[in-house]
Amino acid sequence: MNDLYDKIEEAISYIRGRTGLKPDIGLIFGTGLGGLADRIESPVIIPYEEIPNFPRPTVMSHRGNLVLGAIGGRTVAAMQGRFHLYEGYSGVEVTLPIRVMKRLGISVLIIASAAGGLSPSFRIGDIMLVVDHINLMGENPLRGIIDERLGQRFPSMVTPYDRELIRLAEKIAREETINFVKGTYVGVMGPSLETQSETRFIRQIGADAVGMSTVPEVIVGIHCNLRILAMVIISNVNMPGDMPKHTLEEIVENASRAAPYLERLIERVVREINPI
Ligand code: HPA
Repeated sequence: MNDLYDKIEEAISYIRGRTGLKPDIGLIFGTGLGGLADRIESPVIIPYEEIPNFPRPTVMSHRGNLVLGAIGGRTVAAMQGRFHLYEGYSGVEVTLPIRVMKRLGISVLIIASAAGGLSPSFRIGDIMLVVDHINLMGENPLRGIIDERLGQRFPSMVTPYDRELIRLAEKIAREETINFVKGTYVGVMGPSLETQSETRFIRQIGADAVGMSTVPEVIVGIHCNLRILAMVIISNVNMPGDMPKHTLEEIVENASRAAPYLERLIERVVREINPI
């Protein structure tokens, strides 16, 4: 897509016409996690459908606003609701907002979502700090991107998740006595949930949690040089041989119950991040 750069510029001009705020931290809130965006001070709320070239959310559990404002004295841009490959969008389309937030000024991206737990020791409601990922989505959002203004063609993915931010999140979680685990996230396309054999397979290849987002956003975040912290709420635990049929309602409900803890954690991380 040759005109991606122009599409980003068009979105930026619209947003700059709405607010002069220059965010330095970007936030993405997924399933059941839109609540923190409601706590942003002096918010400028821009519905996605008003922003040129933004996709439209098609998932009911996700609201669709870009919210700019302040958390803990920092200027943030928050995506209240995100886009997924399973909605039919391409990797380039689902990640356009990341590139837009980068051009608005962010240098750090904090990503929150719900995921299925794969480790027998995980409990529903646990918060997992993502330390690595496996891309099983059958898509890479950088495919076909040759515009060097957007980033280099072959970015390293050796340490996509910022070690310092993980340490900061761990420290805060301990201080706040919020239960957390660390692990590897595997991204799948969805929207169907995993079979028991697929679950056995993704456990064997080293994954601790499975979800349908995050991976494209992280790849593009690395491509445009962002420091990334990703956290998931374990909304269900998948054990082959003992797998109930999860429903979206149950996943959203479980994620929403643990959301206040994750929101408290994110709020403090935002407050305490060292500016670059
Ligand atoms: N599988 C894939 N994505 C998910 C799950 C799951 O079990 N739970 C929440 N998102």
